[in-house]
Amino acid sequence: MSNRPDSYSYSACGKAILLGEHFVVYGVPAVAVPLTGVRTTVTATPLLSPQSSCWVDPTLSPAESELAAQLLRHARLRLGSTLPLSVRAHSTIPRGCGLGSSASLAAALCGALARAEDRSLTSEELRAHAHALEELVHGAPSGIDDATVAWATPLSFRKGDAPEPLHSPIDLTLVLASSGPAATTREAVARVAETRLADPDGFASLCQAAAQQVSLGTAALGRGDLANLGRAMNEMQRLLGLVGVSTPALESLVQTALSAGAWGAKLTGAGLGGFMLALVDTDQVDRVSRALRVDGAEHILVTVVPATAMVVAQREGTAA
Ligand code: PMV
Repeated sequence: MSNRPDSYSYSACGKAILLGEHFVVYGVPAVAVPLTGVRTTVTATPLLSPQSSCWVDPTLSPAESELAAQLLRHARLRLGSTLPLSVRAHSTIPRGCGLGSSASLAAALCGALARAEDRSLTSEELRAHAHALEELVHGAPSGIDDATVAWATPLSFRKGDAPEPLHSPIDLTLVLASSGPAATTREAVARVAETRLADPDGFASLCQAAAQQVSLGTAALGRGDLANLGRAMNEMQRLLGLVGVSTPALESLVQTALSAGAWGAKLTGAGLGGFMLALVDTDQVDRVSRALRVDGAEHILVTVVPATAMVVAQREGTAA
């Protein structure tokens, strides 16, 4: 009798971008943190008869099912997965709202298929596989989402370079509030590309300003200086507004969070809807959350990023 498990699961976290989304597509560094409280778990179960592998999820629309089947085919090719499998995903990450749902699915799928083949992937291998899958979904993603969910650590990311884990001497408490449905990342990235086309010199100045804020914010994070990290986030929100990806609902949530005592607040991810992220003191969580709910936030997530612990786990570990 075989002692192989009945099924193989892998769970990957969500992510939030603290500084630098969109500008990262044009070579500016960005900072992102893992959201470990929301996750995607993929379970791959070997099929008894030699039929083709399939994706099982009754909640997917026909278009999403087609994309899921493509992801599965692509992932199997990349991982040399030959065992016939049925694959299921369960996610607590709100879909398409800037919290890394697609990157998390990509990483969890690759992790589960690797386990079914009795292979263990390093974080970097997992990132590369997830990135290839993200290209199917988003076209030409910068790679910040897949790097953050695969490494599961706060990191500084510049397109084309290896991600750099970041150290923060203090926990970061974040309140995330949904402004409602978001456009797709592709649409938001296209909106920024139009802004650039309309005024290339003006856009280059905005990229310079964004790079300066990322640098100031990253240094503040390293010192545990929430006031200056918050300032950099606020300035980044202004720049994201100028490149066309904020909305009145996001602006309103940002102002509400700041008036309720947050250190800083901005949209996170692609924008044009989706989540707003506020940096708060622990004792302000209830006050800020209440104010955001009154302002119409549909969904609120509170998360603490224990930066130092994650950096240690990353140094020790492999992903699978
Ligand atoms: O897909 P989202 O909402 O997590 O946004 C990805 C971040 C962008 O900078 C907008 C795009 C990219 O490829 O980096």
